[in-house]
Amino acid sequence: MAKLNVLQLTDLHITHSGELMLGIDTEFYFLQTLKHAVDRHGPFDLILLTGDLAQDPHADSYQRICRHLSRYDTRCLCLPGNHDDFGLMQTHLHTGKISCDKHLVLGDWLILMLNSQKINSPIGVLADDELDFLERALQSHAGLPTLIAVHHHCIQCGSPWMDTMQIQNSAAFLALIKKYPHVKAVTCGHVHQAFSKQDAQIALFAAPACCFQFTPLSNEFSVAETPPGYRIFQLYDDGQLQSEVFRLPIKMSNLDRNAHEY
Ligand SMILES: [Fe+2]
Repeated sequence: MAKLNVLQLTDLHITHSGELMLGIDTEFYFLQTLKHAVDRHGPFDLILLTGDLAQDPHADSYQRICRHLSRYDTRCLCLPGNHDDFGLMQTHLHTGKISCDKHLVLGDWLILMLNSQKINSPIGVLADDELDFLERALQSHAGLPTLIAVHHHCIQCGSPWMDTMQIQNSAAFLALIKKYPHVKAVTCGHVHQAFSKQDAQIALFAAPACCFQFTPLSNEFSVAETPPGYRIFQLYDDGQLQSEVFRLPIKMSNLDRNAHEY
């Protein structure tokens, strides 16, 4: 059966001038994560970058990310996280194969990329025009199995400090997509940890960050020693999907676990 091989990378947190974050070089780990994914599981039909591409957004950060991705000659879709500047992303992540396009029909699948940014806030929200875009796209591609990507999580991950930042109007979002049986999955970043849960017909996923991870089920900010990773989707033409998380085979020996914020 025909299938699409899709890679999700998230939360790169590339710094403008190369300074370390929580003791690590985030650009180095992004490159290692991308290389590991392509070497072990490529080639990919599509790469999704689901937000927090830059820590302190600057044109140069996005230009470097674009150059790194361009080496792999693979279609890439990028969406913004709370740390990003979507205008700069749209300007600098814009080549023949790399874009911030919000929808793509690939094979028998519809891929939708949502913007959950709330300006000057780490909290997620899907604005009215974003929900309108979503509903119009689902109506005009009725029957196409659909994967939705968005930066913030739409269900609680179990860490109270992190769950204060989940999509504020996630109830409206989930009610909307449940009206469309062809919506198969939603995947997010932001939580810097992996999860997968099922809600009615919809599989809900989070991917690990390309850099530092947060401790699952922690009441407060806590950095884990778990290595960076990525999520892979196999999207089958009958609407079935499989997804799995992989991680770099390394120890995060330089990580500053005493940090209290990022
Ligand atoms: Fe992040």
